[in-house]
Amino acid sequence: TDADPRILILGAPGAGKGTQSRRLAENYGIEHVTTGDALRANKHMETEYGTPAEFMDAGELVPDPVVNEIVKAAIEDAEGFVLDGYPRNESQTEYLDEITDLDVVLYLDVADDELVRRLTGRRVCEECGATYHVDFNPPEESGTCDECGGDLYQRDDDTEETARERITVYEENTQPVIDYFRDAGLLVEIDGEQTPDEVWADVEDAVDVHLDA
Ligand code: AP5
Repeated sequence: TDADPRILILGAPGAGKGTQSRRLAENYGIEHVTTGDALRANKHMETEYGTPAEFMDAGELVPDPVVNEIVKAAIEDAEGFVLDGYPRNESQTEYLDEITDLDVVLYLDVADDELVRRLTGRRVCEECGATYHVDFNPPEESGTCDECGGDLYQRDDDTEETARERITVYEENTQPVIDYFRDAGLLVEIDGEQTPDEVWADVEDAVDVHLDA
């Protein structure tokens, strides 16, 4: 129904998926399902493939069975959701197709050099997960979250070297995902290089148009 949109947000590392997804979840009262956060919360969990940390800190993808399981459990009982960070390759896309129907797919388009600047300057609140950037979106008091007063930290994979590797892994794996949803008529391309508020205006328009359709 209109009240419970099922939204997918695609884009390279640093494109602004987390920033816009948090706003979508709040605005539409839906779940924010993010494989990145779920994996970070379980980084040292033993699986038959090893721990997620071994893949994440190298900028590589965590094996499909591990992430497929996380997504299935998270969206099974959700009325509406915004899915962020998944699917990242063809096999995850096929799996998602079997377990749900999406209303709209948003693709945030941002050039590589801008992605690296965003990732290396990112700071995240360890309490509430709010995201800042040292230049583009600084907190009022350095190192402290505006929303909850928590301490800000830099993600282990936001070094320049790992950020570049993540962008390469994205380019090698995720183009077929974009093509798949374009062919399905669900993809809305958004200029992700605008300010966060400008991107949000386009995101909100795209969702509202698809929900009315
Ligand atoms: P994940 O946590 O999903 O990271 P990612 O995809 O690399 O995306 P990011 O969270 O880095 O970026 P974002 O697009 O959310 O940007 P944000 O809004 O924060 O994945 C991490 C790892 O987990 C992967 O490498 C992999 O190992 C594993 N993993 C996760 N999912 C997986 C899967 N499905 N399969 C296998 N492995 C998986 O913004 C970035 C910065 O820019 C911030 O500082 C922000 O303040 C700033 N910013 C945002 N918007 C703007 C704007 N419009 N203008 C200026 N600055 C902006």
